[in-house]
Amino acid sequence: MPALRRSVRSWDKQQGVLTVKKVKLGVIGLGNMGSAHCKNIEGGHCPDVELVAVADVKPERLAWAEAELPEGIARFDSADALIESGVAEAILIAVPHYQHPPIAIKAFEHGLHVLTEKPAGVYTKQVREMNEAADKSGCKFAIMWNWRAHPLFVKLKELLADGKYGEIRRVNWLITLWYRSQAYYDSGDWRASWVGEGGGVLMNQCPHQLDLWQWLCGMPKTVSAKLLYGKWHDIEVEDDATIVVEYENGATGVFVSSTGDAHGTNRLEILLDGAKIVAEKETLTVTEFASSIDEFTYNAPASGELEKTEIVYQFEDEDFLHAKVLNAFARSILYGEPMYADGREGLREITLANAAYLSDWLGKPIELPLDEDQYFSELQKRIQTSKMRTATTRDDGHVDHRSRWRVKW
Ligand SMILES: NC(=O)c1ccc[n+]([C@@H]2O[C@H](COP(=O)([O-])OP(=O)(O)OC[C@H]3O[C@@H](n4cnc5c(N)ncnc54)[C@H](O)[C@@H]3O)[C@@H](O)[C@H]2O)c1
Repeated sequence: MPALRRSVRSWDKQQGVLTVKKVKLGVIGLGNMGSAHCKNIEGGHCPDVELVAVADVKPERLAWAEAELPEGIARFDSADALIESGVAEAILIAVPHYQHPPIAIKAFEHGLHVLTEKPAGVYTKQVREMNEAADKSGCKFAIMWNWRAHPLFVKLKELLADGKYGEIRRVNWLITLWYRSQAYYDSGDWRASWVGEGGGVLMNQCPHQLDLWQWLCGMPKTVSAKLLYGKWHDIEVEDDATIVVEYENGATGVFVSSTGDAHGTNRLEILLDGAKIVAEKETLTVTEFASSIDEFTYNAPASGELEKTEIVYQFEDEDFLHAKVLNAFARSILYGEPMYADGREGLREITLANAAYLSDWLGKPIELPLDEDQYFSELQKRIQTSKMRTATTRDDGHVDHRSRWRVKW
């Protein structure tokens, strides 16, 4: 039997109707993602959210809001003005990454709940400050890790948390389906520079997978990386990344990504003592072994083969994962229900990304915990010679807000 969904209803005397309590939300940033969130809410995909305000520094995006969103939604020309207005009880931050922590901190200081877009920020020091502000405020804090809401990853997490397959021996993630044209990079002035974005494929496209990697397999003890800067595009940041990690138990992991491979791949393979798990093309294939690999290795005859049983789980494409995460955030505020991801968990993903950059810049493996001051000062060196891009094309993300950010295979 499906679980009963709780809701708070009250009688509106003036209108003579029964109203359902919803979280009054302000969306900050009305670009590709912010406008998609607004459409999700207005399209009825977040039943516990009421869009009450929007903010953007660009007049044309406020004009979009005036034309496309229902009347009565307050419009502000800055994040500060929306936060200080008192109109919203919660905000969703969808502006370029560097600004996520300062806007979140300001909102926490005003007692507002915060859902931030990914990544949590660009460098760990600012993300840590944001987390401390969240702790001090006592407000709800969530991060848009929408890939965590995909049923395939929910199942995978469950399989690993169970522990029945023993320890991880090896992880490989080939995630090269982030192909981007030069026009994409030319569409936003903040994209693909150290000063505007703080990185390339690792900072923009890969945060979801770097988060899932640590969520599923834990944090490694060392991180090494080879990054290629402007290899496939005219950009100053990396568009090709290979990361190698080592875990406390001696297991190793490899993560490969790029925005230069047309028709790329998304294939995650986790080898454990008792099973091999492969996620690819919305299929999760679990190959269970009759005994642990170690037991077999030391007891089997020379020509022996480890017996196996294959279990295949098939999943459907999902359009509204962002809406699921946003609505869960609202229900957490209203009813204390669990969120998909606490905002503080963004720190782990950004630690992985920062460690990969630092490893490539210094040409050596980085031991965790990361030296955050060293990372910050190395990033500043790159920012000093970095140039903001000039937007010359329009990003077609505005055209189809659903298909663009699906969990892709
Ligand atoms: N979860 C996902 O699947 C997903 C997908 C795409 C983007 N994102 C994230 O969303 C964020 C925005 O990306 P985008 O593609 O929408 O960028 P975008 O450039 O299309 O939009 C950003 C908008 O923020 C506005 N803005 C900038 N500074 C502002 C400020 N201080 N106050 C108010 N508005 C401000 C800009 O004018 C612009 O309209 C990024 O951090 C990105 O990583 C997440």
